[in-house]
Amino acid sequence: MIYLDNAATTFPKPKSVYKSVMEAMTKYGANPGRGSHAMAIKGATIIYETRELLAQLFNLDDPMKVIFTFNATDGLNMAIKGLLNPGDHVVTTEMEHNSVLRPIIELEKIGVENTIVKCTSEGKVDLNLLESAIKNNTKLIVTTHVSNLTGTIFPVEEIGKICRRHEVLYLLDASQSAGVLDIDLKKFNVDFMAIPGHKGLLGPQGTGALLINNDIELKQIKEGGTGSLSSSLEQPNFYPDKLEAGTHNLPGIAGLNAGVKYILNRGIESIYSHEKNLLDIFIKELKKNDKIKIYGPESIEDRIGVVPVNIEGMDSSEVATLLDTKYKIAVRPGLHCAPLAHKAIGTDKIGAVRFGLGPFNKKSDIMAAVKALNEISL
Ligand SMILES: Cc1ncc(COP(=O)(O)O)c(C=O)c1O
Repeated sequence: MIYLDNAATTFPKPKSVYKSVMEAMTKYGANPGRGSHAMAIKGATIIYETRELLAQLFNLDDPMKVIFTFNATDGLNMAIKGLLNPGDHVVTTEMEHNSVLRPIIELEKIGVENTIVKCTSEGKVDLNLLESAIKNNTKLIVTTHVSNLTGTIFPVEEIGKICRRHEVLYLLDASQSAGVLDIDLKKFNVDFMAIPGHKGLLGPQGTGALLINNDIELKQIKEGGTGSLSSSLEQPNFYPDKLEAGTHNLPGIAGLNAGVKYILNRGIESIYSHEKNLLDIFIKELKKNDKIKIYGPESIEDRIGVVPVNIEGMDSSEVATLLDTKYKIAVRPGLHCAPLAHKAIGTDKIGAVRFGLGPFNKKSDIMAAVKALNEISL
């Protein structure tokens, strides 16, 4: 199988990730932080080390403000629902995933207002429009770093500056960029960042984190055991315990630990330039076939290796099924949990076939996909 669905979940993972998951299950698979025996301590140590690795990768001072979650959606919900109260206003954009849009729309029911800023057909956000959406009661701006539909890179540093100017908090959804683009929370003025562990960070499914780069106390959205202050019937009010109720996904976090180490070793720059080279080849080749429509930014400087396409007169699911069954190429068709983004680029009725390039793809994978699309388009 040629795997080109890395925007959904990366595959394969580095071998060290599989090994770490196995070790966590077979050698110290106890409940981390819930006992004082050696296995529980080993698990807790791996978890703490993973907080440190993530803090290092994203330039966060305090590893205790790395909150483990089960995916990016979990972290986005924690931040959005933990911050916004009735009467508050939140600004977001059309390019967002449903994991941002649905919590925001849900909060309308308790009187949280929102503005969803329109985006261009290349999936770009107009900073003037974004800034002009800010009102007196705006508490939060939530944007993606990279669109999961078009691969468009958002100007996060500029958005961070707008947030600071207006004293509005910034929540960044780095689901598509973490592990691919350089992210500096301090430099970008990002207050909260939600990441999945299973995409660019090369960890297993069931992992993710919310990074908190300020002193604001988020309200927790669930309560439970933390292994700390057990005599109290109230949730501890310190991080990470405040937001981490229940047993951790130790095998997952151990795998994520190995994924982040792999990235730190190989270097973000090297991963990004590998994917950019493949992206360049892919787009140049596809452009030769005028039956193939490519969506997203014209310049590869403005996008990463997430490429939606359609073949004239064909349904995206039909193309994806052919790629899967006849050519053994894995991609994702349809609406990609981003209905407003599809609306922005004009594919809300037809969907698109999304190719997600990853750190282990080779030029031969790209050329096989080009050949398959050319044949299907005949
Ligand atoms: C931009 C974006 N945000 C959020 C998510 C949700 O991530 P998860 O499935 O880890 O919750 C995704 C997943 O595809 C995404 O691409």
